[in-house]
Amino acid sequence: MEKTFVLVKPDGVQRGLIGEIISRLERRGLKLVAAKFMQVSQELAETHYAIHKGKPFYEGLIRYITSAPVMAMVWEGPNAVAAVRQTMGATRPTEAAPGSVRHDFGLEVGRNLTHASDSVENGQKETALWFSPEELVTWGRAVDEWVFE
Ligand code: RTP
Ligand code: MG
Repeated sequence: MEKTFVLVKPDGVQRGLIGEIISRLERRGLKLVAAKFMQVSQELAETHYAIHKGKPFYEGLIRYITSAPVMAMVWEGPNAVAAVRQTMGATRPTEAAPGSVRHDFGLEVGRNLTHASDSVENGQKETALWFSPEELVTWGRAVDEWVFE
């Protein structure tokens, strides 16, 4: 089953939106397989956002992601990568679809509440960066057959 890595960023944590965001993913039928509440180190932030190094927003992005704790998670489901990105909405909250997290709670790209992997490959890479293999829980959910075809 496809997995994707998700963060509730520091603004989502500070604004008390961890539950709301988890709720939306649960309600959609996605299955939680790993979670931890943590302060992001400078090193982890730089590795996670290495692809953006050199861009004008990079320094601010690193400051943002290390400014307060985050909720790091791995979610599983059919097309989990696309499903979660759809639930989060476009990067810029003013371009995010109504009903998405970034539309419903955000205004600015630099305070856009969540991160979600943008490909299956990056989902695997980010999961391995943020979690050890033992932290991923394989479990059977009673309603799986009513959510997964
Ligand atoms: P994310 O990686 O956080 O899920 O967001 P994303 O794929 O939708 O967007 P991405 O292009 O990967 O950018 C990563 C994060 O950098 C910040 N950003 N700021 N000021 C800007 O122009 C700008 N562009 C991107 C956002 O916090 C974005 O989520
Ligand atoms: Mg991205």
